[in-house]
Amino acid sequence: MNSTAPARLKLDHVTKTFGGVHALTDLSLQVAPGQIVGVIGPNGAGKTTTFNVITGAYRATSGSVLLDGHDVTAEPSHRIARAGIMRTFQNIRLFSDMSVWEHLLVAQPHAGSFARRLLPTRFSNPKAIERAEEVLEFFALGDVRNRLARSLPYGLQRKVEMARAVTARPKLLLLDEPVAGMNHDEAETIRSLMLRLRQDGLSILLIEHDMAFVMNLCDHLYVLDFGVLIAQGRPEEIRLNPAVLDAYLGRAA
Ligand SMILES: Nc1ncnc2c1ncn2[C@@H]1O[C@H](COP(=O)(O)OP(=O)(O)OP(=O)(O)O)[C@@H](O)[C@H]1O
Ligand SMILES: [Mg+2]
Repeated sequence: MNSTAPARLKLDHVTKTFGGVHALTDLSLQVAPGQIVGVIGPNGAGKTTTFNVITGAYRATSGSVLLDGHDVTAEPSHRIARAGIMRTFQNIRLFSDMSVWEHLLVAQPHAGSFARRLLPTRFSNPKAIERAEEVLEFFALGDVRNRLARSLPYGLQRKVEMARAVTARPKLLLLDEPVAGMNHDEAETIRSLMLRLRQDGLSILLIEHDMAFVMNLCDHLYVLDFGVLIAQGRPEEIRLNPAVLDAYLGRAA
């Protein structure tokens, strides 16, 4: 990364506690523009909490979150979204009775007023329609555009979540286990979509349990265990790191 340019995302000594639970302890991490960065670690390590702090769903107990050098730590989540951070959820959060197309329309800043958002297909403006078409094509979702979210197989629901998050042209995309439950071919499709998004300059922070997927995709990895950063580096360094092996394998018994 260019040392004079601010990181796209920077977490600076972030701690998050819930009562006596230390979900995150003094976590610092960075994502440079156009990088794909992974956050890995065993269950309960604090990965999703990291996303919740970044997006303003949770307020950090201490430390700060910076987007392009601007402190967004205390901002409400809708302002953080508007500033350019979009996410997907570990547990899919689509509107079950809305079509794929409607999801892409309402995800946009120019979708219009709240009333218009309730009736997206009737009232959306041409810009919103054009963008939704573009995203539909990029994600190859044209065949299912009119299907209701609840009628889609799981893998496609995950894809629609990612498409929705991309629609508003974020600067930073946070993906919480984007290939969980997908077969190999579906995961490969997601991988190539992520590489194309990176080519377009998008920065991606990714949580994923599928090690092969992460190792083949990420520029840099952060490893959490019990809310503490135990290692970071390039995938090939992380693969052989003794602390990482211990965190994953030492607890298998
Ligand atoms: N809202 C909350 N209230 C209380 N404790 C919480 C809350 N959210 C998370 N935690 C706790 O924080 C810790 C980290 O949880 P988190 O969901 O971030 O883990 P994770 O790394 O995403 O795990 P997984 O791989 O299972 O998704 C856990 O001990 C969890 O119980
Ligand atoms: Mg999680």
